[in-house]
Amino acid sequence: MAIPDSFLDEVNARTDIVDLVSSYVQLQKKGSRYWACCPFHSEKTPSFCVSPDKQMYYCFGCHKGGGAISFVMEEEGAGFVDAVAILAQRAGLQMPEADEDRGRQKQRERLYALNREAARYFNQNLSSPQAENARRYLADRGLSRRTITNFGMGYAFNQWDALIKAMAEKGYSKKDLLDAGLVVANQKGNIYDRFRGRVIFPIIDLRGNVIGFGGRVLDDTKPKYLNSPDTPVYNKSKNLFAMNIAKKSKAGRLILTEGYMDTISLHQGGFDCAVASLGTSLTEDHARLMAKYTKEVVLAYDGDAAGVAAAQRAIGILSRVGLEVRVLNVTGAKDPDEFIKKYGRAAFQKLLDGSEGQVEYRLLQIQKKYDLTEDSQKVEYLQEAARLIAQLSSPVEREIYGGRAAAAAGVDRKAMDDEVTRQRKRSSWQQRRREERRAMTPTANLQPEERKLRYQNMRSAMAEEGVIALTLMDSDLLALADDLSPEQFSSELLGRVYGILRERWQEGKSSTLDNLTALLAPEEISHLTKIMQQPQTRANNERALADYIKTIQSECVKRQVADDSDLLAVIQRKTMEEPK
Ligand code: UTP
Ligand code: MN
Repeated sequence: MAIPDSFLDEVNARTDIVDLVSSYVQLQKKGSRYWACCPFHSEKTPSFCVSPDKQMYYCFGCHKGGGAISFVMEEEGAGFVDAVAILAQRAGLQMPEADEDRGRQKQRERLYALNREAARYFNQNLSSPQAENARRYLADRGLSRRTITNFGMGYAFNQWDALIKAMAEKGYSKKDLLDAGLVVANQKGNIYDRFRGRVIFPIIDLRGNVIGFGGRVLDDTKPKYLNSPDTPVYNKSKNLFAMNIAKKSKAGRLILTEGYMDTISLHQGGFDCAVASLGTSLTEDHARLMAKYTKEVVLAYDGDAAGVAAAQRAIGILSRVGLEVRVLNVTGAKDPDEFIKKYGRAAFQKLLDGSEGQVEYRLLQIQKKYDLTEDSQKVEYLQEAARLIAQLSSPVEREIYGGRAAAAAGVDRKAMDDEVTRQRKRSSWQQRRREERRAMTPTANLQPEERKLRYQNMRSAMAEEGVIALTLMDSDLLALADDLSPEQFSSELLGRVYGILRERWQEGKSSTLDNLTALLAPEEISHLTKIMQQPQTRANNERALADYIKTIQSECVKRQVADDSDLLAVIQRKTMEEPK
């Protein structure tokens, strides 16, 4: 949906960025700016600042920045329109609704209602005489009646059109069923039930809407599970199974499993903070969703090679959004479901209490790679483990893990310490060299953080930044830039931004960072914020602008001449090579 500029302006006028940001982090005033520890990366000293005069924020640590809309997008993981909606709501404004949106909203509501009916139908099936085998299956898997009710589980009869008929009676059409992913169409366009002869797990969102289903066979037929496809109300990369229950847990952490049954068994065992990603590998959206409710995630993945690989991957994704991750070492059972059934809930609690931090887990994985009875492998193990330990910033941790790694390999403690020291020296030397190299080329600091935005012509780019900073602050200055065109810019991004500013100005609109947020990528907005952040000499803006324009145009001419002479060189070479 395109949001009208007039509405954006209204939202802008009623939003104060200092107010907004302070509802998420505690700001401290210093001079004309406000400072806080950055909400987007973890740090101990504040490098995140908010400028009330420019209505923007910028983090000198992670280089994220923008206006109020960017802030909400980043903080809430929202898209542009949703971010505007959040700000509008804060400001007590009614979002303008396009007809098309109202239609889509209607459809979503219809699908929620249909899914709810379907879930109720599947659940009622469980009490039917025809569902004897399903009841037996669930009982065999140790699920209590209470668990079955809590999760709203059900059964789909082994028929082609049982659900279709039941939903038709409630007034739902073929199209509704297709939209909800509850049926599949064959080549002739005839539809049949997607779930047949399967126990059903409804997937419920945070507001309690039934958004999709999983279905498991009762035997060893393949595929073991079928899941709803993505629909207008279900996105498997954004939803987690049982999050609707786990979000209310008092456990202070979430346990992430790989499957429906693992999660359900854990809940039955009293661990109401278990969730699962469904038939898909973990995404950053999943991670952000969890981060809204907790600071710590415990991974309870299967103990096989695939589970270990998935856990390694998940550690990265979860850490990146600032979550603390621990990994359960589920031994003696293939998955958490089997574990808790075999050894009981107390054993699982023990596992949880002793669950390893990532360091320990990674050390264990390294240890498993080597045959430590062989001397040569011992050396390799020592080096790899030392590399990991050397990265730890706390000396206490290095001490603890160094000791453990040495003991595990049966090597001398001092040998391990020496290796860690050696690795640390090496990496700090490497870092110093990197810093020195950067310091020797001062222009490196002026380059955008994003590699793909890097400047080719530094002299021109600095002038281009100046033009953008000035005209974004005061769009009327554009009247003085008549003969400067976007094509004369050396930086693609800055030229594009200049083009947008100029076009808006010609239409009689001024521009703020927030106006640009819809049109540019987040890293582009961050870079613009960085430009705006630089101190400007406000003494004589007109004069400064004229100088910038002169620089840009003369650099542009130089580039053309260079291109031409390249061409000339090519032509000359060609003529020389020409056979006589
Ligand atoms: P698993 O094979 O580990 O199944 O798949 P499970 O959860 O332990 O199931 P049980 O105990 O045999 O009943 C883990 C998850 O991967 C998805 C499901 O979400 C499942 O819970 N999956 C698995 C599928 O989507 N399709 C499949 O065919 C298999
Ligand atoms: Mn299982």
